[in-house]
Order: sequence, then structure tokens, then C-alpha cells
Amino acid sequence: MKKKVALITGITGQDGAYLSKFLLKKNYEVHGIKRRSSSLNTWRIDDLYNDPLKSKSNFYLHHGDMTDSLSIEKIIKTVKPQEVYNLAAQSHVQVSFEQPEYTANTVALGTLRILECIKNYDKKIKFYQASTSELFGISKNKFQDEQTPFYARSPYSAAKMYAHWITINYREAYNIFACNGLLFNHESPLRGETFVTKKIIKSLVKIKFGLEKKLIIGNLYSKRDWGHAKDYVKAMWLMLQQKRPDDYVIATGKQYSIKFFIEETCKALKIKIRWIGKGINEKAINIENNKIIIECNKKYFRPTEVNNLRGSNKKALKKLKWKPQYNLKYLINDMIKYEIDLLKS
Ligand code: NAP
Ligand code: GDD
Repeated sequence: MKKKVALITGITGQDGAYLSKFLLKKNYEVHGIKRRSSSLNTWRIDDLYNDPLKSKSNFYLHHGDMTDSLSIEKIIKTVKPQEVYNLAAQSHVQVSFEQPEYTANTVALGTLRILECIKNYDKKIKFYQASTSELFGISKNKFQDEQTPFYARSPYSAAKMYAHWITINYREAYNIFACNGLLFNHESPLRGETFVTKKIIKSLVKIKFGLEKKLIIGNLYSKRDWGHAKDYVKAMWLMLQQKRPDDYVIATGKQYSIKFFIEETCKALKIKIRWIGKGINEKAINIENNKIIIECNKKYFRPTEVNNLRGSNKKALKKLKWKPQYNLKYLINDMIKYEIDLLKS
């Protein structure tokens, strides 16, 4: 049987790496768009790219950029994919306040550029859009689902809102098989270093081994529904295997605060802490040596925050038969193990 061909934008990111591995196992031919940078940005996928059997490898990279429609068009026409997974984004919420125009260009217009190309070149290409729980913003609902209203709280979220709706519009207007995955936060050892889970784990592991003194953190009280990226890339693929295109919330249904995540990481690392102070002055002391090891700093607070995210995965459970396999404890231990192995090596 002829191999299926998939094109992934954002292949050098966390999800791009996990999705590539997932699709290669399913015997896909996988192509990815990477942007040119002066430092290497392929460390997450080097094991695939440097495959000793490279001549037989099903993995290919192409230079391109979400802000450059000529490169996108050329790659789609050359690769002729059956499925496109649009994961590329300036994906950091706080950075989007500093670079709102660039964020809108990559996230909102970048999505439009791909959809236009699919519309003009081959309407049979199936399209996955990396939508996000950030769209729910200040929702007061206990659980957010596919019917929960949106409320953008950052330039990132506003740009993703455009990408979400333009995906639906191209589905309805041009009959393109286009799906939005409203994915809640998902983490892994390959998570970018400035996202909160990776930052906490990396820093506390170093503190444990005496290589760092303090973790400096922002808002301890926002709550997130954290899953494992390994589970979430499977949901992306499942969406494109259905009879009809649709939009799905992907979440665990469990919610924890940043403070709880820190406490669980400390427990796993056997660091005993005690919290003192309030608000911006809240700190954690290492009980064993009485030293302050965690401090808050205004620098890491956002102009507008998303405080409460917890998804309902009922639709995904029923229609996609998708269910998360990994819980928070597994996630934390997986991330810790990776950091310790890295220090040892
Ligand atoms: P990530 O690790 O930040 O990866 C983002 C990817 O986009 C990287 O490959 C990056 O390339 C690429 N990129 C950025 N700007 C680009 C541009 N102008 N042209 C081409 N490529 C560009 O993000 P992730 O965690 O894997 O998330 C994947 C997608 O899902 C993103 O769209 C994100 O917004 C969305 N999402 C993520 C989560 C989550 O919790 N992880 C939840 C919901 C939605 P470089 O490697 O060169 O930087
Ligand atoms: N990054 C970061 N750094 N966040 C901090 C810090 C810190 O030092 N201290 C507290 N936080 C809080 C943030 O204010 C936010 O409430 C929460 O930790 C999570 O922040 P991030 O890990 O940066 O993730 P995010 O929820 O803003 O965005 C991620 O998830 C979205 C899905 O809901 C990203 O992956 C987005 O691309 C994705 O769409």
C-alpha cells in the first residue's frame, strides 16, 4: 500500500517531535517545515533526521517560514501531502505581549496562508489546526468544552482565535476537511524551557544537586489542566481519521495550581519546603538548610492572566475514543528523569 504523506509545520517544537515519531511508527512519510536560524533548532528531532538508515528514512525537512507564503506554497506543492498538521506558532503567551504583531503574523496569517494554499492547490488535503484552551480566557465554567464561549486574554489568544475561526470558515465555505484541536496545556521532557512546568522542574533539579540557588517564579495561583504531549499528538491524528471534520477539546479533566505543581516536584525530588509570606512576597524555604529556594517576581506576571483552565474531554472520549494514558505524577517523574539524565551526561 502507498505510504500516507504528512506535512508538519512547527516540526522542531515539542509537539512536532512527538507527532513525527507517532506518524513514523504508523508508516507515514513525514515532512516538516523548519525555519532558518543561526543556531541549530533541530535537537528534538535529530534522532529521526540522523537515522543511520537515512537513505531509507521516511523523514524530510524543508526550509520555510509561516510568514512567507511563497515558501509554504512551494513546500505544499512539492510534498503533495494528504494531511497537514499546523503546529507552528510563536507559542509563548507572555512573549506575545512583547511581540503582538509577529505573533499575529505567524499564528493568524500563517494559518490563513496554509488554508489558502490548500484551497487553491488541492482541497482534498486534510488540515489540523493547533487551537488552544487559551481561547477560553476568563471562563468561570468549572469545565470548558466545545460550547464554552471564548474570551481572548492575550495577543497570542486573539491570534489563535482568528486561526480557529478561519479554519472553520474554510471548512464551511470550501468543504475542506479542516479540524481544530482545542488542546489544553500539555508538557513533556521536550517542553520549551520558558514554559512553567519545564522551568520549575529544571530549576528544582539543579537546586537539588546544588547547581542553582533559587527558582524565581510568577503567579503561583493560576490553575492548569496539564496532560502529556505523547497522549495529545495521538488525538491530533485521530481527528483527521474521522468521517467528518470537527473541533474537539483535548484535556485530562484534572486541574492543579502552579503552587501544587511545585509541591509535587519537591516531593518527587525529596526536597522539603515551607511556604512563608503572601502575594509577591511569598517564598518557599528549604526546611533542611533554612535557605529560601523559591521566590516570586513581578517580571513573570502577565498584564492579563488566564486563571482557570480545566477541560471536558467527553466529546473526544465518545467520538475519537481518545483517553489520556498519563497522569500528572507520571509527567513530573518523566520530566525529572530527563533533567537528571541530562545533568549526568
Ligand atoms: P513550541 O514547542 O513552541 O513549537 C513551536 C514551533 O513553531 C517550533 O517548531 C518553532 O520553530 C515553530 N515556529 C515558530 N515561529 C515560526 C515561524 N515564523 N515559521 C515557522 N515555524 C515557526 O510549541 P508546542 O508546545 O509544540 O505547541 C505546538 C502548537 O500547539 C503551537 O501552535 C501552540 O501554540 C499550540 N498549543 C500548544 C499547547 C501546549 O500546551 N503545548 C496547547 C495548546 C496549543 P523553532 O524551533 O525554530 O522555534
Ligand atoms: N511561563 C511561565 N513562567 N509561566 C508562569 C511563571 C513563569 O515563571 N510563573 C507562573 N506562571 C504561570 C503563568 O502566568 C500561567 O498562568 C501558567 O503559569 C502557565 O504558563 P505557561 O507554562 O507559560 O503556559 P500557558 O498556559 O501560558 O500557555 C501554554 O498553554 C497554552 C494552552 O492553554 C502554551 O503552550 C500555549 O502555547 C498554549 O496555547
